[in-house]
Amino acid sequence: MRHYTHINDLDNLQETVKEALELKQSELQFENLGKGKTICLLFFNNSLRTRLSTQKAAQNLGLNTIVMNFGSEGWQLEYEDGKIMDQNKAEHVKEAAQVVSQYCDIVAIRAFAGLEDKQLDAAEVVLNNFIKYATVPVVNMESSVGHPLQALADAITLEENKVSHKPKVVLSWAPHPKSLPHAVANSFINMMQLQDADFVITHPEGYDLNPEIVKDSNVEHNQEKAFENADFIYVKNWSSYKDYGKVIPQKKDWIISDDKMNITNNAKFMHCLPVRRNVIVADEVIDSENSLVIDQANNRTYSAQIVLKKILEEL
Ligand code: CP
Repeated sequence: MRHYTHINDLDNLQETVKEALELKQSELQFENLGKGKTICLLFFNNSLRTRLSTQKAAQNLGLNTIVMNFGSEGWQLEYEDGKIMDQNKAEHVKEAAQVVSQYCDIVAIRAFAGLEDKQLDAAEVVLNNFIKYATVPVVNMESSVGHPLQALADAITLEENKVSHKPKVVLSWAPHPKSLPHAVANSFINMMQLQDADFVITHPEGYDLNPEIVKDSNVEHNQEKAFENADFIYVKNWSSYKDYGKVIPQKKDWIISDDKMNITNNAKFMHCLPVRRNVIVADEVIDSENSLVIDQANNRTYSAQIVLKKILEEL
């Protein structure tokens, strides 16, 4: 594996989850693999979990880490070829990506969707230009369209907590006051399509995700019906895809409450975090013993570590 930009970059999801769980048992077993090598983590957007877990994963493999808050501290980058750069963008990605590549052996990038121009976001301008011009492998730490490190961590968490061979897993939209990207939901769907599970997506009318990602996954607009017999409730807000980036009716009654969790088969509650308490999920649910949110965040380390290990083994 050279780059990791999508869950499908893994040869075999189930095998990778197994390897990650073995790594979790003894996280320093490959502490010399990255010795003498460096990873650059470039953040065009904020982070808590991704930044710390990827840094910890790199450290567990013996990699040196350079972190840069590119969005606030770097030059504004130009991505268009042939552009007359006489406005506010000081550097072209052609030079920036090649320069960064000289300082590291792997570059990892976080660059969220702008949520204003659907085509621009779909083109994954930052990620794809770094892949085009960097001379080292590129890892996606959440791009416009996907968050595959989160999806892999979620697959690890599902494997650790499932009690039936084919669990019912529900991805539920929940309300949020701001316009949020589709990346986490997209990658969760990509990942669930590789699982042996009864998978259902539930959201209000108007919040349909990209049909090219949803494909033939089961979509149910009645949240309570979707929750019946569920073993896992994975919750995430996203803005409208059709009316791109807009927050259409809030649907505050889509909050995850105890009453809704009582419809399920004693389901585990999952969310990638950060989460707005008592907007997306009620305190009693996120604070319950069925909440896996802290375990999910912990598994971000092993998700990143198994991906970096695979990349290092091919350098
Ligand atoms: N889940 C996640 O990616 O968290 P951060 O945005 O804090 O990195």
